[in-house]
Amino acid sequence: METRVLPFTDETIAEAARLLLGGEPVGVPTETVYGLAADATNAKAVARIYAAKGRPSFNPLIVHVPDLAAATDIGEFDEQALALANKHWPGPLTLVVPLHERTGIASIVTAGLETIGLRVPDHPAMQALLRATGRPLAAPSANASGSISPTRAAHVLKSLGGRIPLVIDGGSTSRGIESTIVAATGGPLRLLRRGPLEVDAAEASGETIEAPGQLASHYAPSKPLRLDVVSAAGEEFLIGFGDIDGDANLSRKGDLIEAATRLFDLLHDADASAKPRIAIAPVPSEAIGAAINDRLRRAAAGRQ
Ligand code: TXA
Ligand code: MG
Repeated sequence: METRVLPFTDETIAEAARLLLGGEPVGVPTETVYGLAADATNAKAVARIYAAKGRPSFNPLIVHVPDLAAATDIGEFDEQALALANKHWPGPLTLVVPLHERTGIASIVTAGLETIGLRVPDHPAMQALLRATGRPLAAPSANASGSISPTRAAHVLKSLGGRIPLVIDGGSTSRGIESTIVAATGGPLRLLRRGPLEVDAAEASGETIEAPGQLASHYAPSKPLRLDVVSAAGEEFLIGFGDIDGDANLSRKGDLIEAATRLFDLLHDADASAKPRIAIAPVPSEAIGAAINDRLRRAAAGRQ
């Protein structure tokens, strides 16, 4: 795939919106770092973010929206969250809040959690893209797994060139580091990631920094989970893959992208079923399968 780098113009935004609505990821500047954006309501598009980044694990992704009204359609904002949003949005603040039901956000975006990270970015290119698509956009930093965060289009090209169709070049980002993340999920606010904003002690009392990627808030099913299972034993809800069929199947065709898009939905279905245990067929560890297996191993180990 050839990766085009186009300057931030109306035509580029129209082209980027067309790609995003077609399920492709696009590199886009924000005021913090460049993000790799995808339509957050399209599970397959979000799976392509992981495929492009080669990320070996699923992390909940930040969803970008144009304004506070769009954010409150998706998440539940208590008084503390509203105060922070009013003070700092648009800007480099991500708020983790409870997720409303039936928002259309794909479960792969939140990695199965009942909370969601939301941000109103302060950058004309990302704002134009949000308005042109009319969709909430999931966007992690636009770098391959393990490389540093991109603050210029050239960094995105170096890291993800050949794996995504388009990068919008909006010059250097003004903040240069990822957004400050604060959780407002009941009780005192918690600072999850330090960033460009000085969220003072009064705003985030009970401060606990949780290392990104190792957040205690990962979804795990409430039932025991057995891996690499070819046939269900006893009262197991078997999640199949490819030729190994069960109570449900991640992908009959053995397509790993499709499996990634269905993983959290099927784990939730298995959890909600009458069966007391969950089993899952072997999933190859190539490409995005590595992230699927990482998530399954954590869930099976009962680790958060
Ligand atoms: O500045 C930024 O935030 C950039 C730009 C592109 O907006 N985005 C970014 O995304 O840094 P990412 O995916 O690299 O980092 C997202 C962080 C992860 O550490 C993730 O664990 C946390 O946000 N996060 C997202 N949703 C969460 C949730 N529901 N609960 C806890 N943590 C969450
Ligand atoms: Mg990142």
